[in-house]
Amino acid sequence: MSKENNILICDDDETLCYLLKEQLLEEGFAAQTVYDGKDAIEAVKGKNYDVLLLDLNMNEVSGEEVLKFVSGHSPSLQVIILTAQSDIKKAIKCIKMGAYDFISKPYDFDDLILTINRAIDHKNLLVKTTILEEQINKNIQSDIIGTSKEILKVITLANKSAQSESNVLIEGETGTGKELLAEYVHRNSPRSEKPFVVINCASLPDQLIESELFGHERGAFTDAKTSKQGLVEIADGGTLFLDEIGEMSITLQPKLLRFLESGEYRRIGSVSNFSSDVRVIGATNKKLLEEIESNNFRRDLLFRLNVITLTLPPLRERKEDILLLANHFLEIKSPIRSPKRLAPDTEALLINYSFPGNVRELDHIIERAIIFASDDIIKPEDLNLPVTNKKNQYSNTGDEMTDVLPMEEVEKIHLVKALDFYGWDRATTAYKLGISIKTLYSKIRKYSLTQQ
Ligand SMILES: Nc1ncnc2c1ncn2[C@@H]1O[C@H](COP(=O)(O)OP(=O)(O)OP(=O)(O)O)[C@@H](O)[C@H]1O
Ligand SMILES: [Mg+2]
Repeated sequence: MSKENNILICDDDETLCYLLKEQLLEEGFAAQTVYDGKDAIEAVKGKNYDVLLLDLNMNEVSGEEVLKFVSGHSPSLQVIILTAQSDIKKAIKCIKMGAYDFISKPYDFDDLILTINRAIDHKNLLVKTTILEEQINKNIQSDIIGTSKEILKVITLANKSAQSESNVLIEGETGTGKELLAEYVHRNSPRSEKPFVVINCASLPDQLIESELFGHERGAFTDAKTSKQGLVEIADGGTLFLDEIGEMSITLQPKLLRFLESGEYRRIGSVSNFSSDVRVIGATNKKLLEEIESNNFRRDLLFRLNVITLTLPPLRERKEDILLLANHFLEIKSPIRSPKRLAPDTEALLINYSFPGNVRELDHIIERAIIFASDDIIKPEDLNLPVTNKKNQYSNTGDEMTDVLPMEEVEKIHLVKALDFYGWDRATTAYKLGISIKTLYSKIRKYSLTQQ
């Protein structure tokens, strides 16, 4: 069993405490002793233990009272009742109150170790489940946050376009929320029960994009060992989101155009036409009119796509939304049980920053600040905004980020801080950081962290 598992022994029999502690230390546990319920409560308030071995009959504060306190204060702490034969009934009552198990005195040490190990496994599982639940809850939301008149205008138009069948083109700088908006249009459209399928036109070479989009027949090309459905087929009845449409090659554009005009397409290697009922939303951070001028984009395709155009303004042009979004990210990204807040100067700094990477950048800045902040208040320096050209922070020009501490360095510093703080108790540290134990272990390995 790993050395970092902390056991608290609480029994008014000092000799028993001493022996038990020695035995546990020999087994590789960390163990502390207290001789009364009152001290047990103090100890639990000050440190995260994994298991509490708890006697029932003590002078000042009884085991039952300690158990009550633990259930409210540290529900993941596993309590094993140490009880005399005569108190079995009381021990059973304690189990009903939430104790993990009981061991009768005189105890069999092997039995006790087995029970402790099972209790630790149980605690780890409990912690993992809580984190998972939390993550699931966090992922559910995908609303568009914002109250500025600029974003409200876009949302109003998006609501209207959701009700129509027309194709939509979403324009906006990187990170302004184009994909989020596309999903919003889909979710609010009569097609919402059908699939929302995404393809990034810049992510694959031409032929692969074509085969992803329209599918292929067996033998259509060397690697086509079986036939494959295209995304337009999968999206039938729903919405197809063509991300970075400005990157689609000029040779593939006519095929897309034909599909947009007729709803018909051919799988690669097929001689028959298929048809699919798909509403298309395209997104781009390029100026497509300029792309048309330079012969990279077909004018007729643009006209098919931009029946409705939604333009997402950069974040620096809707400053009103900055704090709202920052607080939203704080809420969903702070560790469970310790939500962090922005200091007033931090708020001012954010409002005056130019956000070249828009909402995504703000998201990352907050995520980094949560890791970096030493307490519950996010201070200006925790934001780690570009420092070399101070003017940039206050300008509206969207200059490049420079001299930022690398995210990995920041993460490493914070992990060491957190691990030290929780006495290298991996389960507790992971729990407090809001990450899984597995992730914590992999990060410890990645950064070769060791306890000093
Ligand atoms: N108004 C908003 N409310 C809440 N979250 C937002 C908002 N706008 C953007 N986001 C979040 O910011 C991140 C970036 O958004 P998204 O991926 O939609 O941007 P994008 O414009 O598609 O970026 P890119 O051009 O780089 O593909 C996502 O995590 C998204 O959920
Ligand atoms: Mg995108």
